[in-house]
Amino acid sequence: MDILVLGMVFFILLALVIGVIISRVSKSSKLEEELREEKELTHAIVASMGEGVLVLDTDYDIKLINPQAEKLLETTAKEAVGQKWAEFVKAYVGDQEITFDKRSSVKTLASGEIKITSIGDDHYYFTRSGRKFPIVAITAPLKREGKVVGVVKVFRDATHEKEIDRMKTDFISLASHQLRTPLSAIKWFTELLLDPAAGTLTMEQQGYAAKIAVSTDRMVSLVNSLLNISRIESGRIMIDPKPTDLLELVESVISELKRKMDTKGHKFIINTIDKLAPIPVDPKLIGHVYANLIDNAIKYTQDRGDISVFISKKNDEIISQISDSGFGIPVNEQQKLFQRFFRASNAIKHVTEGSGLGLYLVKAIVESSGGKIWFKSEEGKGSTFWFSLPIAGMQPKKGEVSLDS
Ligand SMILES: Nc1ncnc2c1ncn2[C@@H]1O[C@H](COP(=O)(O)OP(=O)(O)OP(=O)(O)O)[C@@H](O)[C@H]1O
Ligand SMILES: [Mg+2]
Repeated sequence: MDILVLGMVFFILLALVIGVIISRVSKSSKLEEELREEKELTHAIVASMGEGVLVLDTDYDIKLINPQAEKLLETTAKEAVGQKWAEFVKAYVGDQEITFDKRSSVKTLASGEIKITSIGDDHYYFTRSGRKFPIVAITAPLKREGKVVGVVKVFRDATHEKEIDRMKTDFISLASHQLRTPLSAIKWFTELLLDPAAGTLTMEQQGYAAKIAVSTDRMVSLVNSLLNISRIESGRIMIDPKPTDLLELVESVISELKRKMDTKGHKFIINTIDKLAPIPVDPKLIGHVYANLIDNAIKYTQDRGDISVFISKKNDEIISQISDSGFGIPVNEQQKLFQRFFRASNAIKHVTEGSGLGLYLVKAIVESSGGKIWFKSEEGKGSTFWFSLPIAGMQPKKGEVSLDS
């Protein structure tokens, strides 16, 4: 009897254990199935994307390449997987090959930050059959448990966008050139009209002619800004670096802005941390950067405000800082600061003239010189702009045009 009871208890326990095992097995196979389905879905999405997708590991070896990337890079997954990305596909900025440490994937892997390459960055890939095509791309870190374990790159062929961009630049350049001749004539004849030698005008007529002169000057400066932008964007601009003392360059820029400054009674300070050795930069281009930033500081600072320029050296960069105690830029408008034609709502109230092209041009010059530009600003308190230049200076570039030529 006892044996019978024991047997039944044993049987019930066995049934329970088997039940648990069966339910676990069926749960885990369900999990596996779910994982497999998810993997297949991800695979299908990546495979059908219109953009090229690449996954690299921490050695920059290609781990995955989707069909669109195979097509754009003229390769196959079989050939590409396992290859070193930077050697497999060469990348260029304009005509210059991008060195290994400057490749977006290397930067993303080192910093863990997302890198965006837009149309203005002028990046190209070079396929092994010799086709060079412009790209736009996003390079993002692949993270596992907070650690960067690789890079995902999504890119597309930007040939069409580049062509439209070039047509736009050509159009602006052509229209601006055509406007220059009649504008010069208006300016010249207005000056003649205001010259007493041409006969006396009534006070009222003099007032009208003076207004024509001011508006013409504004239009000439707008046309010049548009031409400078198209010169930079077309990549036809020459870069002619000469050993330059940056402090002397700032002083020469200031002497040209002196009249404007004196009328507003600003206190101006210019300083360097220590004696800076001359660096090879194109004085015309960098002079333009200082002129625009200092002109803004003057324009957007109330009378008797403070303006300062401070040049220092940090690691392998020269940093220029331009500060003012002016109107500042409203926080909610700050992200638009370097966009073409942007003018802040508070500045428009104080200063009517201005095209909103100055900072766009400044950014383009600084970035094409291998530097960066950034700022900090508080409305009602003032603004500080910084820009960096590599201490090694600018790389020379042959070109057909220079600024304001
Ligand atoms: N130092 C500054 N303080 C306050 N606002 C500034 C300053 N610098 C620039 N801004 C704001 O940014 C806008 C864009 O500046 P940007 O130099 O591009 O154009 P602009 O001065 O309006 O015209 P221009 O093409 O003649 O330079 C300005 O209109 C102004 O609103
Ligand atoms: Mg300006």
